Amino acid sequence: QAFFKPIHSAAPPSPTKRHTKISVIGAGNVGMAIAQTILTQDLADELALVDAKPDKLRGEMLDLQHAAAFLPRTKILASVDYEITVGSDLCIVTAGARQIPGESRLNLIQRNVSLFQNIIPPLARYSPESILLIVSNPVDVLTYVAWKLSGFPSNRVIGSGTNLDSSRFRFLIADHLDVNAQDVQAYIVGEHGDSSVALWSSISVGGVPVLSFLEKQQIPYEKETLVNIHKAVIGGAYEVISLKGYTSWAIGYSVANLARSILRDQRKIHPISVLAKGFYGVEGGDVFLSLPAQLGRGGVLGVTNVHLTDEEAQQLRDSAKTILEVQNQLNI
Ligand code: NAI
Ligand code: 2OP
Repeated sequence: QAFFKPIHSAAPPSPTKRHTKISVIGAGNVGMAIAQTILTQDLADELALVDAKPDKLRGEMLDLQHAAAFLPRTKILASVDYEITVGSDLCIVTAGARQIPGESRLNLIQRNVSLFQNIIPPLARYSPESILLIVSNPVDVLTYVAWKLSGFPSNRVIGSGTNLDSSRFRFLIADHLDVNAQDVQAYIVGEHGDSSVALWSSISVGGVPVLSFLEKQQIPYEKETLVNIHKAVIGGAYEVISLKGYTSWAIGYSVANLARSILRDQRKIHPISVLAKGFYGVEGGDVFLSLPAQLGRGGVLGVTNVHLTDEEAQQLRDSAKTILEVQNQLNI
């Protein structure tokens, strides 16, 4: 006896509604913050969690499943076996070592490249049409590693990059000007890390270009204020790590925001880590770093042609060089 008596005249499910599946690899602080933001924002019909620690993984899965009465309906799976990721539309990789207080992201490289050699091939095998979104650090180099190990075209391999740094930047500018961060259009590009580049020349608030507005109105501003805001962006993660041990909430929202643009084909522009060779004079090898790029269902649709001053373009090329120096030492 079925619980519901079926209504035979009811229309069959719409064949045009796509089933959306997201896999999150690494059920630590970052993976779980991303998972819970994805659930609350109703971005997937199915969410698969993979981690190397089975008990922790099952605990996290049950804890999220127990929130079912308060969330949009999503099937949640968890396993140490990559088979559960089969047919994913989007695979988000957060597994790996994180920084201890004071440690740089680039210092994590050897440990996390070895993990990626076990993670990326099965992911690519089970979901050959998926988009890979890399979050583990150092994110730019690991996005390059994921691109190489997966054999995917570069439009389907993305690093979360400076989408997070740009949010920190917008928060600090908004705080300084006492406006809403969502009205601040401002990009940090380059490495997600110490050599990132602030694009001051293209900042606008509510459509008003900030620096040229101040100059036209002859309102003096201290170059030092700008330098300090960028320093606070770079220092932000170090400060949070020294206070609570890790960062999680902001990266959770940042990645869910990218997942939405991809899976809902929003065609929004985000500063994310993409194959940057040939853009803005970046040369010297296949390097992934953040540039403002348009995201949709096909992954990276294009890179925006933002005006950079000569100084900004030089800083971007220097950032590329920093990443390439680390990348060139890899043996993959
Ligand atoms: P965590 O230590 O809380 O979690 C890492 C998880 O990875 C653990 O649950 C561990 O069991 C799992 N893991 C390790 N090896 C694995 C394997 N071979 N297969 C599957 N799972 C495996 O660390 P947390 O805080 O979640 O950070 C994760 C990564 O994210 C770090 O590399 C961190 O630096 C990075 N991160 C990146 C950000 C960004 O903006 N790109 C922001 C914040 C963190
Ligand atoms: C962050 O920026 C640590 O990359 C991490 O929060």
